[in-house]
Amino acid sequence: MLASLRTMPLTSTVHREAHPAAVAATCPDSLVHPIRAAVRRGLGWAETADAVADALRAVLPGPAAILPASPRHGDPSGYQSHLLHAEPDGTFSISAMVWLPGQQTPIHDHVAWCVTAVLQGREHEEIFAPADGGQALRLSARNVNPPGSVSAFAPPGDIHRVRNTGDTVAISMHVYGADISRLGTSIRREYTLPILP
Ligand SMILES: [Fe+2]
Repeated sequence: MLASLRTMPLTSTVHREAHPAAVAATCPDSLVHPIRAAVRRGLGWAETADAVADALRAVLPGPAAILPASPRHGDPSGYQSHLLHAEPDGTFSISAMVWLPGQQTPIHDHVAWCVTAVLQGREHEEIFAPADGGQALRLSARNVNPPGSVSAFAPPGDIHRVRNTGDTVAISMHVYGADISRLGTSIRREYTLPILP
């Protein structure tokens, strides 16, 4: 069973304190090893994210391979993030997220590069760009990511909001270029700026 679960709020109006996160499950070596090899190539952030995404596409697991049954059901209090692996040298972390229908992140950006992979359900992503001299945001893209889709991104240009718009539980896997066990979150900033049409 999982040792601990972290609950994230549904709205962007709640400020979340970062707390160190305990590793909550075991990530298969077949997943960790190719990710580690890609990270150790020592590329820049964007290139590392692309290399990790390529590695992950080749070994993408099913949800049951990374999470026991109970957390795969989701939690009505908010989408759940389960830390699966924190690399001992701090260079990357792997987590799984579980979303009930309608649950969403705040609008946020990230502390480092990130690779996301949808394993179950569909995740709807909105990408935003700064506008009005940084006083507002403007929607720049929408994506619907089905099972098997793997996306890589690196700051800047990584402001987004993710939502489960389907009617079933969505589960995704996330690789971050940072030590989430120490930082407690991958989020650099939550945005509550107005969104221009
Ligand atoms: Fe994100």
